[in-house]
Amino acid sequence: MQIFGVDIGGSGIKGAPVDLDKGDLAEERFKVLTPHPATPDGVADGVKEVVEHFGWTGPVGLTFPGVVTGGSTIRTAANVDKSWIDTDARVLFSDRLGGHDVTVVNDADAAGVAEMAFGAGRDRKGTVILLTFGTGIGSAVFVDGVLVPNTELGHLELHGHDAETRASSKAKEDGELTWEHWAHRVQKYLAHVEMLFTPELFIIGGGVSRKADKFLHFIEDIKAEIVPAQLQNNAGIVGAAMHAAGGDGGR
Ligand code: BGC
Repeated sequence: MQIFGVDIGGSGIKGAPVDLDKGDLAEERFKVLTPHPATPDGVADGVKEVVEHFGWTGPVGLTFPGVVTGGSTIRTAANVDKSWIDTDARVLFSDRLGGHDVTVVNDADAAGVAEMAFGAGRDRKGTVILLTFGTGIGSAVFVDGVLVPNTELGHLELHGHDAETRASSKAKEDGELTWEHWAHRVQKYLAHVEMLFTPELFIIGGGVSRKADKFLHFIEDIKAEIVPAQLQNNAGIVGAAMHAAGGDGGR
């Protein structure tokens, strides 16, 4: 079965039809730039462009980079326009797409669900935490394969700072940090999350997962196993489609 997945990120809106049996894109993805400011209207236009590029008329699963409750209501908007807060995103996107069946899920939760089913978390029991490092830091926490939704561990306070402002990949770019310097910050962040949750496994997702060889060796003194995500930057698209299909770890 195929469902369309769209991943709304701080820099791009990307989507493709997803083959749910394989957990992979059925066609090459298409991407448009996220508008700035990333208002509901501007983002909805971007989503429409991506979906129409494929002439898709079936159900669409979307991710959102903030807390999403009930598959629809946006509760936080750390890296997009604040006017998203309390928006009914399902209604917004469905109207803009001309009545498609739409669901919305947090971006990191979507990536986590995809990694647990088809990637680095397959068959892993106990506590598994996926962290996505991008414009912000997203988190997805699983206990015996079941998602605890909307955990928002990227906003833990570390040394008086919101952790994502210090250790996201945007923080690396903005501060022109070397891999080693940035990895040192990631290490402190992981140590803090490990102190709170003692996971068996950390999965490192987001764009940096493709460059794991540049920084993972700098991360020491963490007891949990640390691995890069396997679906890399497609995990959000795949997870969004899985969520729309209802195969999302019980949400
Ligand atoms: C948001 C999370 C999101 C993460 C990654 C954070 O700023 O609060 O909901 O998952 O960024 O996009």
